[in-house]
Amino acid sequence: MTRTLQIAAPDDWHLHLRDGEALYHVVAATALNFRRAIVMPNLKPPVTNAQMAVAYRSRILQALEAQCNSGQYSDEQVQAMRLFEPLMVLYLTGATTPQDIEQAVESGVVKAVKLYPAGATTNSDAGVSDLLGQCADVLDAMQHLGLPLLIHGEVTDHTVDVFDREAVFIETVLKPLRAAYPKLRVVFEHITTEQAANYVRDHATRDEQGRLLLGATITPQHLLYNRNALFKGGLQPHWYCLPVLKREPHRQALVKAATSGLPQFFLGTDSAPHAKHLKEMSCGCAGCYSAPYAMAMYAEAFEQAGALDDTSLFEKFCSLNGPAFYGLPVNPGRMELARMSCEVPASLPFVSESGIVPLRAGEVLDWTVTRLN
Ligand code: DOR
Ligand code: ZN
Repeated sequence: MTRTLQIAAPDDWHLHLRDGEALYHVVAATALNFRRAIVMPNLKPPVTNAQMAVAYRSRILQALEAQCNSGQYSDEQVQAMRLFEPLMVLYLTGATTPQDIEQAVESGVVKAVKLYPAGATTNSDAGVSDLLGQCADVLDAMQHLGLPLLIHGEVTDHTVDVFDREAVFIETVLKPLRAAYPKLRVVFEHITTEQAANYVRDHATRDEQGRLLLGATITPQHLLYNRNALFKGGLQPHWYCLPVLKREPHRQALVKAATSGLPQFFLGTDSAPHAKHLKEMSCGCAGCYSAPYAMAMYAEAFEQAGALDDTSLFEKFCSLNGPAFYGLPVNPGRMELARMSCEVPASLPFVSESGIVPLRAGEVLDWTVTRLN
């Protein structure tokens, strides 16, 4: 008999949806696999206040509705897609004010603020170069109001080796930040190292209301691949994301964290769409487009780790820990995955004629999402 997994409908706690035509092409993949998603604000221009977040949220829902009406999906799929809820994030800049934070909380749609260290990654030029120096009053307001800070945790100092930038960030930014703002709620996004996994495992304290003060998201690529994937048989641009894949012991530490059942670790794909020609060029963009097959990849990582004997660890990581961190209800809907092969297409429709290459393009995966309702 085909093995199946049944879990509460999962959420993606770290996602890039872009805007305009690109948004239209990618939004359905997420809505068919996740009930909610934390949507990153690194647009051009970035989403820096509540008004922009509310407007971006309606563009996302409009693009999704257009997909629902495109005739490409079954009635059941359309029903599932219409339940999708985007959770919005503000982009922290040197000009963000405590009033922006208050208005974000009042809006009801903004669930967090994102720190991009200036120059760390795609569309991060408007980010912050000196967090503690530039953003003291904003961090105070966030701590006071309980609005989480989502962190791209890499230093941008070019003298620091690219493979060490996350570990150095923990020592030089994250620890001082948490010492100065001990009640600030923080998510260390897309962690890639043993140092990050251990730090989050050992320092996830709680506030007086019992809420976790520290969490971390983990991507499918960092659970399944080490940095060899970037160079296997030649340069592999579709495996290039930031923070970059690390050595095998780091991957193993991340798998241990994700499959630990600890409440501070949860799913965040960091699915980051870029057109094929912009990935396969002399200076290719960072980002892996994983959304359409992410759930199959997470199931594969858990299976490889021997962590699918019962579904409870998988369900915690995919569907329970994230809502608990964000103080949101667990989704009432359910997802079923079956151990059935599923072929990832070479390319999917996107803004340019070249399309977009999903992560694991051309491969056959062992798991398939068979139901989301
Ligand atoms: O690989 C990445 N791509 N890392 C990021 O931090 C940003 C993202 C993007 O927006 O493309
Ligand atoms: Zn990201």
